[in-house]
Amino acid sequence: MSPRSLFWIPVAVRFALVFATGLAGYYVWDLKSGLILALLVLTAMVITQLRYMYQLSLWLDNPEEVRLSDGWGSWTEIFAKLYRLRREDQKNRNELAEWLSRFRQAMSQLPDGVVIMDDVLFLEWCNPVAEKQLGLSLATDTGMRVTNLIRSPDFIDYIILGRYEEPLTLTLGERKLIVRLIPFENRRQILVSHDVTEFDRLERMRRDFIANASHELRTPLTVINGFLEIAMSEPDLDPSIRQQHLKLMAEQGKRMQSRVEDMLALTRLESIEYPVREELLDMHAMLEQIKAEAQALSGGRHAIKLEFNGPDVKGSPDELRSAISNLVSNAVRYTPEGGSITLHWRDAEAGPRFTVEDNGLGILPEHIGRLTERFYRVDKSRSRETQGTGLGLAIVKHVLMRHNASLQVESQPGKGSQFTIQFPGSARVLKLA
Ligand SMILES: Nc1ncnc2c1ncn2[C@@H]1O[C@H](COP(=O)(O)OP(=O)(O)OP(=O)(O)O)[C@@H](O)[C@H]1O
Ligand SMILES: [Mg+2]
Repeated sequence: MSPRSLFWIPVAVRFALVFATGLAGYYVWDLKSGLILALLVLTAMVITQLRYMYQLSLWLDNPEEVRLSDGWGSWTEIFAKLYRLRREDQKNRNELAEWLSRFRQAMSQLPDGVVIMDDVLFLEWCNPVAEKQLGLSLATDTGMRVTNLIRSPDFIDYIILGRYEEPLTLTLGERKLIVRLIPFENRRQILVSHDVTEFDRLERMRRDFIANASHELRTPLTVINGFLEIAMSEPDLDPSIRQQHLKLMAEQGKRMQSRVEDMLALTRLESIEYPVREELLDMHAMLEQIKAEAQALSGGRHAIKLEFNGPDVKGSPDELRSAISNLVSNAVRYTPEGGSITLHWRDAEAGPRFTVEDNGLGILPEHIGRLTERFYRVDKSRSRETQGTGLGLAIVKHVLMRHNASLQVESQPGKGSQFTIQFPGSARVLKLA
C-alpha cells in the first residue's frame, strides 16, 4: 500500500467513528442527541489534533529540550518519521563535523601554509604553518581582509593583476615564500605558501661556491699564463729572470693544487657514502706534532704552549689531525708577532675538549656565525696576505659533524680568540691503570 493511502486510512476511520457515534445516538435517543454526540466526538478529535500540533510546534522550536509523545493515530507515524529524520540529520552533522576536524588536522600537518578566504579575500581559516609564514593569527584575524594582513606591495599587485596561474615569490622579513592563489568553489579562494628560504640559501651558497672557486683558481692561472706567454714570445730571456718566473709559476701551481685539494676534501667529507674511520688516537703524540708544526709555521714569532690533561679519543686520525691543525694554523696566521698561543686538551663532563687560545686579532661578533661557510673570510685583504682561501673552517665543521662533535668560537676584536672542539662523551677512551 502506498504511503498516501496509509495516510488516508486513519482519516477515514476517524470520520467513520464520528458518523458511527452520531448514528448510535440517533438510534438510542433521537437525531438531535445523535448530532450532539457526533459533534462532541469531533470536538474531542480536533482538540487532540490541536494538542499534537502545539507539541510539534514546541518541538520544532527546540528539538533538544522538548520530547514528543508517542502520538495517536497518524501522529504516531508522523512523529516517528520526524524522529528518524532528526536522527539522520544529527548523524550527518556528526559525520560532517568529524570530516571537518580530520580535514583541519590534515591541513595542520601540512608542511605548507594554507589559507582559506571568501571571494573578497576575507580570512576564514588558516593552518598554523600559514600563521607562522605569513604572520596571520586565526584567533584574532578571522573575518579580516588578507590584503590588510599581508602587507606586501608584491602580494597586493599579485591580487590586483589576478594572474593566479603563475606563483608569486614573496619576501617577508627573513623568509622567502612561493605563494599561489587558487580559486575554488564559486565563492572561495585558497592561498598556499611554500617556504623556500633554506633552498634559496643553499642555492646562493652553491652559486657563491662556484664563483669563489673559479675566482680562487683564476688568479694563479692568470699569473702562470702570463709567464708562459712571456716565455713563448721572448725565447732569449735572461736565464736568471726565466728561473725567477719558473719559481713564481711553481708557487702559483702549488697554491692551485692546495685549493683543489681543499675543495676535494670538502666534497669527500660531505659525501655520506664515505663513513668515519674510527681508530684509537694517541692525542698526546698528535698534539705534540701539531704544536711542532705550528712552531715551524710561526718561525719563532709566537710563544706556543701545549697543556695536556685529557683522555685519548676514537675517531678518524687524518680528519681530526686536519681539523685541529686548521684551527692551530689559523691562530698562528691571525696572531701578530709576539703573541702567544696555547693548545689545551682536557676532559669535561660533556666529553673531551680541545681549545686553541690566542691573543691575536680577534673577530667581530657579526662574522662569528658565518666563519664555517665555504670561502668565508673576515678580511679579504688580510687573508690574501696570509694566502687564506676561507675553506679551513668549512673543513673543520664537516669533520666535527662526522664525529658528532661541535665547534664553539669565542672572540673579542683586538684581544684574541678561543676555538673549542667539544667531543661527545662517547668519543672518550679511558686508559686502564
Ligand atoms: N684565530 C683566529 N683569529 C682571528 N681570525 C680568525 C681566526 N681563525 C679564523 N679567523 C678568520 O676566519 C676566517 C675563516 O677562516 P678559515 O680557516 O676558514 O679560512 P682562511 O684561514 O682564510 O683560509 P684557509 O684556512 O682555507 O687557508 C679567516 O679568513 C679569518 O679572517
Ligand atoms: Mg684557515
